[in-house]
Amino acid sequence: MAANYNAVGTTNPSPYGSGDPYYNESSGFITPHPVKKSTSNWVKIGVPVVILVIIGAVVGGVVGSRSSKNENNSSSGSKGGAAAASSAASVKLEVGRFATSTNSEFMIPVYPSTTNTAAFTAPTFNSNSLAWPKDPFQPSQPNVLQPRSDRPRLIAPSYKWQALPTLIKSDPYLTGWNNTIFGNATAYYSLPPVVYHMDGDSGILDNAREVKMRIKTFAYTFLMTNDTKWVDRTWVEIQNAAGNGTTPFGPDTDKWNSVHFLDVAEFSAAFAIAYDWLYSQWSDLQKSQMRTTMILYGLQPGLTASTNNNIGWWRTNTTGNWNCVCNSGLTLGSLAILGDDTTGIAEQLLGLTVPNALQNCALATVDDGTWAETANYWYFGTTGHAEMSSALLTATGSHYGLLDVNTNFYKTGIYHMYAFGATSLFNYGDHGPNKFSSTANSMLFYGDQYKQPQFALFQREQQDAAEPWSMFWYNPTVSGAFWDGTPLDHFFDNGLDQWASMRSSWTDSQALYVAIKAGKLQGLQTHNDLDAGDFVLDALGTRWAGELGSGDYLSPDYFSNDTQNSVRWLYYRKMTEGQNTILVNQANQNVLAAPTVQHDTSGTVQGSSTVLNVPKDSTAYWYADLTSAYFGVTSVMRGVRLLNARKQVLLQDEINSQNPVQWRMHTNATVSITNSGTSATLSLDGQQMTVSILSPTNGAQFSTSEAVRFPTDPTPPVPDQANPGVTVLIISLPAGTYSLQVLFNPQWSGMSASDFVTPPSVPLASWSLTSHN
Ligand SMILES: *[C@@H]1O[C@H](CO)[C@@H](O)[C@H](O)[C@H]1NC(C)=O
Ligand SMILES: *[C@@H]1O[C@H](CO)[C@@H](O)[C@H](O)[C@H]1NC(C)=O
Ligand SMILES: *[C@@H]1O[C@H](CO)[C@@H](O)[C@H](O)[C@H]1NC(C)=O
Ligand SMILES: *[C@@H]1O[C@H](CO)[C@@H](O)[C@H](O)[C@H]1NC(C)=O
Ligand SMILES: *[C@@H]1O[C@H](CO)[C@@H](O)[C@H](O)[C@H]1NC(C)=O
Ligand SMILES: *[C@@H]1O[C@H](CO)[C@@H](O)[C@H](O)[C@H]1NC(C)=O
Ligand SMILES: *[C@@H]1O[C@H](CO)[C@@H](O)[C@H](O)[C@H]1NC(C)=O
Ligand SMILES: *[C@@H]1O[C@H](CO)[C@@H](O)[C@H](O)[C@H]1NC(C)=O
Repeated sequence: MAANYNAVGTTNPSPYGSGDPYYNESSGFITPHPVKKSTSNWVKIGVPVVILVIIGAVVGGVVGSRSSKNENNSSSGSKGGAAAASSAASVKLEVGRFATSTNSEFMIPVYPSTTNTAAFTAPTFNSNSLAWPKDPFQPSQPNVLQPRSDRPRLIAPSYKWQALPTLIKSDPYLTGWNNTIFGNATAYYSLPPVVYHMDGDSGILDNAREVKMRIKTFAYTFLMTNDTKWVDRTWVEIQNAAGNGTTPFGPDTDKWNSVHFLDVAEFSAAFAIAYDWLYSQWSDLQKSQMRTTMILYGLQPGLTASTNNNIGWWRTNTTGNWNCVCNSGLTLGSLAILGDDTTGIAEQLLGLTVPNALQNCALATVDDGTWAETANYWYFGTTGHAEMSSALLTATGSHYGLLDVNTNFYKTGIYHMYAFGATSLFNYGDHGPNKFSSTANSMLFYGDQYKQPQFALFQREQQDAAEPWSMFWYNPTVSGAFWDGTPLDHFFDNGLDQWASMRSSWTDSQALYVAIKAGKLQGLQTHNDLDAGDFVLDALGTRWAGELGSGDYLSPDYFSNDTQNSVRWLYYRKMTEGQNTILVNQANQNVLAAPTVQHDTSGTVQGSSTVLNVPKDSTAYWYADLTSAYFGVTSVMRGVRLLNARKQVLLQDEINSQNPVQWRMHTNATVSITNSGTSATLSLDGQQMTVSILSPTNGAQFSTSEAVRFPTDPTPPVPDQANPGVTVLIISLPAGTYSLQVLFNPQWSGMSASDFVTPPSVPLASWSLTSHN
């Protein structure tokens, strides 16, 4: 039986359990949930006590002793809401943070290994937990020009600052993040102000984001201590970025580099936070100086861009991070000074940024949630989108549709979770500049706003969660484990992206993870590669098949366009040669590619335990017709499937080509090829994986090369970046018709040679969930 295109098995329940009315069986997605209004008395009173007892017994032993249990004095007699809440709080403190460390090579969370199902429960918002108070500012008719009267108004209003110390004490994540932010503030305090550095095509974006990151941190620390040394240090950074410090900061006419408008936007956001969060501390003179600088270098260029689409090119047909970041920065800047500004520019801009973001930024996800640029650009785009939505909500009482004009936007949280592999992102295409103030904390905001507890539960374990936004975006009533009930596989089928994510566990850093893509090669904001069929493979805590990332953004014509003869496609990291896919005739793929895909999954979900025993019949597969991506072929199909309870991977290419063909994979491993040439052992990070050619049985052999262009390739305007340590594993075949089958066997500890399976040869069109049993 052929694959089911919309393949999400019916055994694939919502994270909320079977019978969830918000779970859409045909799409496999969960629509946004309303907040649960009430819970039964049994849940209110019984659960915290039951969990306490079990966790007291298990966590102490398995997770390691974390607490002296000094708050653990709840009794079944405590009936009042306050008692229940304090009992829930003590449970949270007792369990602590799930991830025990993030100091792995890839900075990913390391989860405690436990089969205790009581410690980890289904994702939910627990109405017994201490919650944020309701915002007292609830305008009946929100108006973007009528902000709340109290300060701060951006993202963290005063009612939240008042509630925060108590919440910090009852939530181990908030406790930890607060500590880290204080530590970061201390570290930044003694650094000199950010030094102006013009970085060509990336402008002064790093500078802007670093200034923003510092200012957020200083302002947070001031509001948590009332120690004015943080205000003084903020002022030093403000003076510096205004060009009024002790060292020069850019040309007087255009200090924030309006030709690269992201820079202007991020500086405007930084000034907005300083102005608004420390409003009570600034003198009238200081406020006026900040407004003067922000208007001169930020909002005035913003108005020019927003009223001239040739200058503000990012306002038209730009469904990507540029539109989100630029509109967000101008919005934060305008909201911060609204009411104090006597020039009218803040009001004017707010009439331009909000409608434009609704038409562009809000559409930057396709209908399956995939961020249209790349998995790395998701960070920049969603940070801008979340900051703008959050600031509008807190300052004026509405997001004006930014969160729901695109009814599929919330799925971008699902996209991020599945793009995040066992070691790192499926980091196809360009990776973007340094992140600084861009994190994945939009997941905390979206988790709360879209009532998707698993988004917040996922992000709160990550190493980039600790920064001021998380303190206010995190809904502390969230509880449970993001992995509980979460399917191991997900297929993203929008024609623009078409990709698959398959894994053996959500909580084991050693897990198998395979992600593979087809999709189009144009319309991706020119951040993509010519990479239909490209894949990554993680196992045993390392990445065996990986990406080369961005080329040098300064290279001539790197971003020229995405037509077939664009110079962009002469750079090794962008051309088909530099991808983990099939190469025909040493030529780039056809930019007009429009692949089709098929897939299915056993629908395996992880349970509450961090230890998942994958059932024997658990599998997933995906295959694509990539013929339209190639010149000089009759057909090219590529499929991948998980075998042997997700311990092995089969990659199968069915090729009928009039031209020579290469199978290519980039790896950081040391490669050792057997004498016969049909098998290779890859060694990396103290682990091994064997890779074998199952078919064709004669003539196909492995070879290796460095990750460099062929000498016969056209020469790009400037040399490529080196790819030190990277080896290309290659199978070269002459023109012909093949079923090329390659088997990947990670050498799991405790698994002997006879435990590995050799799959039968089955044409892709006949693949099914049981075709390889
Ligand atoms: C714990 O509860 C017991 C019995 O109600 C009481 O005697 C004791 O003082 C309580 N301890 C704390 C620390 O509240
Ligand atoms: C936040 O962290 C700092 C530094 O560790 C600490 O001094 C402070 O008490 C914490 N705030 C709260 C409310 O716990
Ligand atoms: C903030 O502090 C944490 C903990 O020390 C550290 O890991 C992290 O790198 C710091 N962040 C930045 C941006 O310096
Ligand atoms: C700081 O000052 C404000 C205003 O006086 C006050 O409400 C707040 O409690 C103080 N915070 C601390 C940590 O002292
Ligand atoms: C910086 O100096 C200029 C020129 O004196 C002044 O107009 C502006 O207000 C100053 N801005 C800040 C933030 O100090
Ligand atoms: C925006 O995209 C639409 C649809 O593709 C196209 O018709 C229009 O010309 C584009 N506008 C600009 C200014 O590029
Ligand atoms: C090699 O390792 C580096 C550092 O972890 C990583 O960024 C890169 O993607 C890896 N390259 C490949 C081809 O796996
Ligand atoms: C695309 O960019 C290349 C340079 O990379 C240029 O030669 C070509 O004319 C451009 N095509 C279009 C349609 O802009």
